[in-house]
This record gives sequence, structure tokens and C-alpha cells, in this order.
Amino acid sequence: MPITDFSLRSKIRNYKVIFHDSADFLSTIFKQPNSVCLVDANVWRLYKQTLLREVAKEQLIIVPISEAKKNLLSVQYIYRQLLKRQAKKNLRLVVVGGGIIQDLAGFVASTIYRGIDWVFVPTTMLAQTDSCIGAKTSLNFGTYKNIIGTFFPPLEVHLLTAWLKTLKQVDYLSGLGESVKLQLMGGAKAIQELQMLLPDLLKRELKAARSVIVTSLLIKKGYIEEDEFDRGRRNLLNYGHCFGHALETATKYQVPHGLAVVIGMLLANQVAVARKILKAATAETISRQLLLPILHQQVSLGKLNNQAVIAAMLQDKKRVGDKLPLVMLVDDFRLVKVDDLTKSEALAALTWLSKTGVAK
Ligand SMILES: NC(=O)c1ccc[n+]([C@@H]2O[C@H](COP(=O)([O-])OP(=O)(O)OC[C@H]3O[C@@H](n4cnc5c(N)ncnc54)[C@H](O)[C@@H]3O)[C@@H](O)[C@H]2O)c1
Ligand SMILES: [Zn+2]
Repeated sequence: MPITDFSLRSKIRNYKVIFHDSADFLSTIFKQPNSVCLVDANVWRLYKQTLLREVAKEQLIIVPISEAKKNLLSVQYIYRQLLKRQAKKNLRLVVVGGGIIQDLAGFVASTIYRGIDWVFVPTTMLAQTDSCIGAKTSLNFGTYKNIIGTFFPPLEVHLLTAWLKTLKQVDYLSGLGESVKLQLMGGAKAIQELQMLLPDLLKRELKAARSVIVTSLLIKKGYIEEDEFDRGRRNLLNYGHCFGHALETATKYQVPHGLAVVIGMLLANQVAVARKILKAATAETISRQLLLPILHQQVSLGKLNNQAVIAAMLQDKKRVGDKLPLVMLVDDFRLVKVDDLTKSEALAALTWLSKTGVAK
């Protein structure tokens, strides 16, 4: 197995991504002094007798997660649990789960005692392929998605693809969606690799998963190291997210994040075609070969309320003035960000979507 570990430069503190072929590393990180383990409740249920059996009862906090619970109430719950254990500043959090517990626990780690050490063990495809790096922590507030947050990287990210075996199909595909986004941002070579691996990825072969995880993380690393605090180029990582976040909000999170991003990419490409900055044939190839196989009947948006999607887009924290921001893929696989998407353009793309069968 090639060595794929790498470090990330951060203005807050540099951190490392470490790949593992076996779960042996877990007992070492659980036994580090002053460690408290925050474990996603579903992951705990699945792994308490196996990979997580060495977590001592006194150091365990089980966290029930959902998009609706990714909020300040859950943060308070975790603060209380930590303080009950007489947590001190030398506390070290070991966080085990997907993107939701990462966002919650990362926020807690960055705020309690103004910042404590934490390490992250991502267990979902989305967290392994995308969210585990970049240092963002995010909470939802009312109907506003990811509007509260901080930048606070873990000390280490420990990657083991074996966790992915137990993911529900919809959650696996959601992660794959984010991965495809990153590969599309990586240009022709990454896209070719993805086309080659997609059949194995859809069969959930872990070797293929590890390969795209490494490529996706390295592509993301390029964007975040250059613009850690999201003031410029990092904005491009929002490809698929402008419509995607709005779809999540408008469907009350019925569509998981990564699949909303896939649909968001279809919609952004449609706007780009209408603006004549992306060839219709290229958009069609990307949809047919890379995006639609992931949606693969997993997503039925039912009857999508287009006006609700647009209302949610107007809440976008990245909006400037009356018009909407949008990241689009253009010919030659470059990305551009505009701030002048009109409501009627967004509506036209959503109307187009309803004719594709993805939404009714
Ligand atoms: N911080 C960031 O940079 C960043 C980037 C992208 C996305 N996100 C956020 O990540 C969230 C989505 O992440 P996600 O897709 O990991 O969702 P998630 O954390 O909800 O996990 C998906 C589901 O899988 C379950 N699960 C986790 N690991 C499992 C395993 N090994 N086997 C079986 N089930 C398992 C979870 O309990 C959950 O039900 C969104 O809230 C999104 O906004 C954050
Ligand atoms: Zn995302």
C-alpha cells in the first residue's frame, strides 16, 4: 500500500491526515491521557462490541445526531457532559462519526476553554473524502444551514475505510457525491480516474474508495491551504452547494447533504449552459456519466417547491445584495463564481430539473 499520509498547513495549527490499514491505532488514541470520546450514537450502536470496545465507560459521551440536532442545544448538551466529568483545559476530544458530529464536536473543541485539542476519526464517506480537512465547524440555526461556526482544525485525522462497510447506501452515495464534486474540480486527470473507478465505487469496493478519498483530499488541500478562511478561491468549493443547501432546507433535510450537492451541480451546470459558458454536450456527459449514476433512484425529491428553494437561496450567507451567488463549472473544467444569479435563472434551472425526473 503506498504511503498516503499528508500534512496540512494552517494558520491556526498544522495538522495531519493519517491513513490506516487496520483498526489497531484506535486503542492508542483512546488511551491518550485526558481523552474523552464523543461518538455518534449510531456508530456506537454498530461498533461498541468491536472497534470501539476499548473506550472506557467514564470517557464516553454518546451523541445523538441529525441535521435538526446540529445546533446550539446539542453543543450545550456536550458542554454539560464534559463539565460533569470535571473537564479541564488539558482535555483531549476523540471524535468518532460523520460530518455532523465533526461539525458539532469541532465547535465545542474550539469554544470550551477557548480551544482544546481534538482528534477526528471520520466514519462516513463524506467525512473521509471531504469534511475531515478544512478546519470548518458549523451549526444550523433555525432554518439557516451552517450559519454559525468557527475555523478549528483537529490535531490529527485518522482514516480507516473499513468503517464505510456499514454505511446505509444513501449515506455512502451522499459522500460519493461530495467526492465527485472535488474530482470535477481537479480537472481532466481526476475526472478520468473517477470515470475509471466509478463502477467499483458504486459496488462499494473499499480499494476504489480509498483511491478517490486520497485524490479528493489532495484536491481540497490545494484550495484550503491557499485560502484557509474562505475569502476567495476556497469559495469555489461551494460548487453544487448554492442550490444544494437550499434544497436541503426546502426539503427539511430529506435529501442528504452530498446528494443535494449532486443535484446542485446539475442545476449549476444548467445555468452555465444557459449562460453559454459550458457546452450543453459537456454538461450532458457529466450528468450521464458521473452525476446521475450516483443519484441512481436514491433520491426522489417528490414535488419540489421551487419557490421554497429560491427563498432558501435568498438566505445564503454568501449572498451580496439582491442577486444570488453561484459557482459554476465552465468549459475546460475551470470554476467561476458569480454574484449575479437572478431568481428567474434559478427558477428556469429548477423547472428544467423537474423535467429530468430527478424532481417531479
Ligand atoms: N465541516 C465541513 O467542512 C463540512 C464539509 C462538508 C459537509 N459538512 C457537513 O457534514 C454533514 C454531513 O455529513 P455526513 O454525510 O457524514 O452525515 P452524518 O454525520 O449525518 O452521517 C450520516 C449517517 O451515517 C451514520 N453513520 C456514521 N458513520 C457510520 C458508519 N460507519 N456506519 C453506519 N452508519 C454510520 C450517522 O449516524 C448518520 O445517520 C452535513 O451537516 C454537512 O453540512 C461539513
Ligand atoms: Zn458539502
